[in-house]
Amino acid sequence: MSIAPIICIDGPSGSGKGTISRAVARALGWHFLDSGALYRAVGVAALSGGYPLDDEPSLAKLALHADIEFEDRIDREPHVWLGDDDISEMIRTEEAGQAASKVAALPAVRAALLQKQRNFAQPPGLVADGRDMGTVVFPHAELKVFLTASAEERARRRHKQLSEKGIEAILPALLREIEERDLRDRTRAVAPLVPANDARIIDSTSQSIDVVVATVLDWAHAL
Ligand code: C5P
Repeated sequence: MSIAPIICIDGPSGSGKGTISRAVARALGWHFLDSGALYRAVGVAALSGGYPLDDEPSLAKLALHADIEFEDRIDREPHVWLGDDDISEMIRTEEAGQAASKVAALPAVRAALLQKQRNFAQPPGLVADGRDMGTVVFPHAELKVFLTASAEERARRRHKQLSEKGIEAILPALLREIEERDLRDRTRAVAPLVPANDARIIDSTSQSIDVVVATVLDWAHAL
């Protein structure tokens, strides 16, 4: 029996799950776990420490002991520190995303981060955003949602997001990066990106954020 109810929202990058999970957490007044930010922080720690991204034993130690701190905020992306360094911006780069996806394919790294993620489950409840929240981290969650969208739509959203931040990006290159990362996340041996058997699937390709949030909140209220 968990100490707090849990809603898992899993899916590929660009499916809108970050925005949707945060909006659901805010509406319910629950805690929020951005598990991708945790993997990104480990990726940044590995890059800045000069670790080869396939050195599993060293990366697992790093994941377990790195001084990574999250600010528990649901109204915007969490601030993340590595030691005294604010790495909130750095973890959002494409380079950090690729590094995260490589370290996330290592079973010992995933095992090292398991308890850190479970510690986020505190009353009154938790909305957990990731790839394996419903399958591995919180298999007994009260509600599991798997959010998808076509790769083209996800690349378009990412392009828009970057250009709003004044960052130039090339759409076909973004699409290629998204497809590469999807393939690695879906085919890895450990905790691959697949819906849990009991997950409810939402395709957000042609649905607005508000509609998807309302659907998830309806399900949450019916628990
Ligand atoms: O969600 P986000 O794009 O920030 O995640 C970055 C990477 O971290 C993903 O591509 C994925 O490889 C990894 N990840 C994971 N399991 C999670 C969350 C993220 O493997 N629960």
